[in-house]
Amino acid sequence: MSPSISAEIPHVPRVFHNYPGANYILPSDEQEIHRLKLQHDVLKAAFDGKVLLAPIKLHTSPFVLDSGTGSAAWLLDVAPDMSPSAIMHGVDIENRLFPTSHPPNISFSINSIATLPEEWTAKFDLVHQRLLLAALRRSEWPKALSQMFRILRPGGYVQLGEAGAWHAGAVTERHADMLHTLFESRELLLEVSSDMSTFLRDAGFVDIRVETRTIPLGAWAGQLGADARDNFMGVYRGMKTPVLRSGGLGFVETEEDFDRLMDELEKEWDETKGAEMKFHIFIAQKPTECTT
Ligand SMILES: C[S@@+](CC[C@H](N)C(=O)[O-])C[C@H]1O[C@@H](n2cnc3c(N)ncnc32)[C@H](O)[C@@H]1O
Repeated sequence: MSPSISAEIPHVPRVFHNYPGANYILPSDEQEIHRLKLQHDVLKAAFDGKVLLAPIKLHTSPFVLDSGTGSAAWLLDVAPDMSPSAIMHGVDIENRLFPTSHPPNISFSINSIATLPEEWTAKFDLVHQRLLLAALRRSEWPKALSQMFRILRPGGYVQLGEAGAWHAGAVTERHADMLHTLFESRELLLEVSSDMSTFLRDAGFVDIRVETRTIPLGAWAGQLGADARDNFMGVYRGMKTPVLRSGGLGFVETEEDFDRLMDELEKEWDETKGAEMKFHIFIAQKPTECTT
């Protein structure tokens, strides 16, 4: 069993973005780059090795945007399957996460997905976005999806991946209550996957479909369970600063309380056969006859 990410790099102060107006609650540092790679591998394994579900034609020269790209784990993985003339771009509010080396047809810029450049209108064949639930306020989701709609050419696709429900035992329930409180206090939508089809439809997308997988959590489920545990525990441990800055939200009072809750959560997953989390990938199309 591999040690957890946080156990590998103890007591390192976490670094967060400082993009004006952004609401993202997870760190943007070296430790997070490692976690994002692990997360990509876990999700890829859960989806049977597939990372591109939208039916775009790989032999053409697609324009692809990875929205909230982070360390570009997804872009770097799909790049070899794309035509060499494909043009791929990643945007994020934080450039500390961008990879230092990448194929020449991948580029990056610092941008919030709430305000994408006007000159991108109707340019892209595919917009991919994964795990922005800890970033976008309730009011920002419709805006982000209408930006994606605008920059897609008619007939282009979105592929959006978001985590869904999870369960294990009593500690997981208590932690989930804390997460709900944190997310509500920041106007974030923890259960955005329940609203995603409606958001997509309201933004004008058609042919909306969703693929869902169940990811096991904990040592009881072998390597995938251990990797998924390390990844999601990395997410939850990474929320220590926002939780403590919010006064502990009535669930913890000190850093030690927070760390103890995390240790108990990890133990519960390891010992609870059936501990699991849903993950959803939504695919939708901008209508081919669309003129906007
Ligand atoms: C959980 S990470 C996921 C990274 C990547 N999509 C992946 O799946 O590996 C979320 C990313 O969204 C970025 N982010 C947060 N708010 C954003 C915004 N308003 N616009 C663009 N990127 C944002 C964060 O900096 C972070 O890199």
